Amino acid sequence: MTAAPAHPRDRLIVGLDLPSVEAAEAMVARLGDSVTFYKIGYQLAYAGGLALIGKLADSGKKVFADLKLHDIGNTVARGVESIARSGASFLTVHAYPQTMAAAVEGRGTAPLRILGVTVLTSYDDADLRDAGYALGVTALVEARARAAKAIGIDGLVCSGEEAARLRALVGPNLALVVPGIRPQGSASGDQKRIMTPAQAIAAGADYLVVARPVLAAADPRAAADAIVDEIAAAHA
Ligand code: C5P
Repeated sequence: MTAAPAHPRDRLIVGLDLPSVEAAEAMVARLGDSVTFYKIGYQLAYAGGLALIGKLADSGKKVFADLKLHDIGNTVARGVESIARSGASFLTVHAYPQTMAAAVEGRGTAPLRILGVTVLTSYDDADLRDAGYALGVTALVEARARAAKAIGIDGLVCSGEEAARLRALVGPNLALVVPGIRPQGSASGDQKRIMTPAQAIAAGADYLVVARPVLAAADPRAAADAIVDEIAAAHA
């Protein structure tokens, strides 16, 4: 049993990194049945996008609430209860042990999967040192991944480069959700460590998160279909 869904299309999560609910709804309409899973992050969530979670869920889509929660335990647990009621399928929290335990408590038996963000991919060893950490990125990612598994987290967000190592560390049941995906020929933008969809699947990703290569494509639907085809042809 692995954490990946059976159908390749359900492994593509399109990030709705757009400035308004109107723009997001127009993109969802344009993508139609080519996309089954959407991610709502800071930009859209703080522009009224939280209300879109229930709307998308009611229309049969799955929603990843990429809200990266981190606060005192009681606040996290109560916030997760609210998000669970909204109909979201995935939610991110920062992978601090107290925060992860509170999120698992708040989720209860709801069908919401809690994903831990180990160390933000924009951080390197010097950034961690500046923030007061004794561990470097590799050691801190591993420590947090072990804690996530022990606490009962449902998955981790990680770069494609980290996926194989984390898979070996946490086993088959935690979902590995991988952003930084660039199909052949698409612009890398500000992403530094990129992989193609096929490379990320081969490295152990269960789900791929893609925003700009779909949103900025001349034909977003064709771009999504091409990624799904690549997932289907890839060998895990
Ligand atoms: O446009 P692009 O495909 O680079 O977007 C990737 C999405 O994944 C963005 O919403 C970004 O915030 C998110 N993400 C990421 N790297 C992480 C965690 C999340 O790119 N480490």
